[in-house]
Amino acid sequence: MNEMSKEIIFSRAVIQKRVQEIADQISKDYVGSDLVVVGILRGAFIFMADLIRMMNIPCKVDFARVASYGAGAESFGKVVMTKDIETSIRGRDILIVEDIIDTGLTMQYLTGWLSERNPRSIKVCAFLDKRKKRKVSFHADYVGFTIDDGFVVGYGLDFDEKYRFLPDVYVIKQ
Ligand code: PRP
Repeated sequence: MNEMSKEIIFSRAVIQKRVQEIADQISKDYVGSDLVVVGILRGAFIFMADLIRMMNIPCKVDFARVASYGAGAESFGKVVMTKDIETSIRGRDILIVEDIIDTGLTMQYLTGWLSERNPRSIKVCAFLDKRKKRKVSFHADYVGFTIDDGFVVGYGLDFDEKYRFLPDVYVIKQ
């Protein structure tokens, strides 16, 4: 098998400790809330599964999926919804869960899309935040780890649909 060279950056132990810290904070912030956690497919599924099991408050779950077109280094890219959520969110607290925020275009689009349905609040929780890569200003409310440039895989993140299953996070070495 043709394996790419990769180096571990966050071990499963470090990830679990950090996810528990975020889950504790979210549990405090949303006590008594009618919370809907919205995972963005596909990458967020593992982080979201760990996160909600480490929270000690109830929540509903739903999923959305978006596609980005022309989001290359020079173009601004267009984001399109390919699978909408099915839960009514009017008057509810929404927590979007992402595996990674890069240019910020996906989150800018999704928060705009969901706000139109008049939820009580919308916040974003990202496992990884590549702040230096932003093309639009976007600030996540909860962040697992901030990282520099570099292609990361594992814990839900893929390279050409490979490596999502890995329990640790790696950076691909060029
Ligand atoms: C990744 C990630 C975010 C988006 C972030 O998804 O899961 O949804 O890119 O990038 P942005 O901030 O530049 O918009 P990807 O398109 O790789 O799909 P996947 O989750 O199915 O792997």
